[in-house]
Amino acid sequence: MFEVKFKNKDKSIFIKNGDSILVKSNEEGMDIPSACLQGMCTTCMATLLKGKISYIEPPDPDSLTEEDVASNKVLLCVATPESDLLFDDLED
Ligand code: FES
Repeated sequence: MFEVKFKNKDKSIFIKNGDSILVKSNEEGMDIPSACLQGMCTTCMATLLKGKISYIEPPDPDSLTEEDVASNKVLLCVATPESDLLFDDLED
């Protein structure tokens, strides 16, 4: 289990490797916006400040560009933790 935190939320969520960060966070009441749940629409994009993720399914390269990856953008619906994580503020 890894501890996943969002900067603007007080709560920590514990997620195991292999589980979707978005699905598990929303099960814990995080209310992260989502739509496709397949790494295609970018609704769930967040910025990773600390830690390492991997992808359960590879995100669509048109949705998550090399530039996005270089600036630590993550599509939470298809991402899973590889370490404890800290994400930047979620946009409202
Ligand atoms: S919900 Fe569409 S990319 Fe994550």
